[in-house]
Amino acid sequence: MLAGCAADAPSDRRTPSALEPAGTGARIVLDEMLLHAALGAGVLLLILGLLVGIVWRQRRRGDGGLPQDDGDGVGVRWIWLGGIALPVVVLAVLGGRSVISLAALGTPPSPETVEIEVVGHRWWWEVRYPQVGVVTANELRLPAGESVQVRLLSEDVVHSFWIPELHHKLDMLPGEVNELWLHATEPGTYRGVCAEFCGLQHARMQLQAVVLEPDDYDAWLARLAEPRPAPQTTAEERGAEVFAANCAVCHTVDASTATRGVGPDLGNLAERTTIGGGVYPNNLGSLAGWVVDPQAMKPGALMPGTALDGDELQALLAYLDTLE
Ligand code: CUA
Repeated sequence: MLAGCAADAPSDRRTPSALEPAGTGARIVLDEMLLHAALGAGVLLLILGLLVGIVWRQRRRGDGGLPQDDGDGVGVRWIWLGGIALPVVVLAVLGGRSVISLAALGTPPSPETVEIEVVGHRWWWEVRYPQVGVVTANELRLPAGESVQVRLLSEDVVHSFWIPELHHKLDMLPGEVNELWLHATEPGTYRGVCAEFCGLQHARMQLQAVVLEPDDYDAWLARLAEPRPAPQTTAEERGAEVFAANCAVCHTVDASTATRGVGPDLGNLAERTTIGGGVYPNNLGSLAGWVVDPQAMKPGALMPGTALDGDELQALLAYLDTLE
């Protein structure tokens, strides 16, 4: 419990908390949880109180003998009230409330205007916006205040999609499509995790959900739907060549659902806050390390290392920095 109290993690590594909902779905789950906890605590206190009361009464009698039946029906009344009536009322309240919550979780609070597909891979997230033909990875952008339909798929094994501050978790199954809705109420960045053990790097399969004001979201999506900017400087052009020769077998850079790589699309890599499936901050140092030796940074990841010389690496980094 004490370890859970650590509050000094850097902001981008903040532990996501289902107790601080920023979405309608998470709010429904939290309200349900609080009701269960409150009623459970009430029943526990009542029983503890009765136990103390019984001990107290018997001690005051002080005759040391077995408890006597007073013969006035009080014992039977306790059984009817405490053993039958109270549980019926408590369970009816919890059951009724759960039915209401389940119905609410099954229906988005407003018509779904945005459709997103999230595909689980070992160990990263592919994010597709089929309405505009945009694909990106490991960073989900959402408009605040709008209902988003999310279709969940998996490319390999069972994963589970969970952004605790926005909604409950849901499995991603190979060959099946699971659906949920997201309705984020507050702009901000929320961490998501894979919540189903999926192999060696399961714990490092993370995603960021960036909730934007609707206008900012529209502008972002429109920008990504445009063709990617062409390299400007000589270094960037050289980097594009290095990319084509070394990386393009697995990665695409056009942010388009028309093409599909083995690895994440890198069309907006420069604006993402993390690399490696949400594991490392996106800066020059970790990116260089990742390109050269990803196995040292995330053992078991499907990406092999690259044998680039210093100039090639610098050129490649300059080119990757233009992708936003
Ligand atoms: Cu993917 Cu655990």
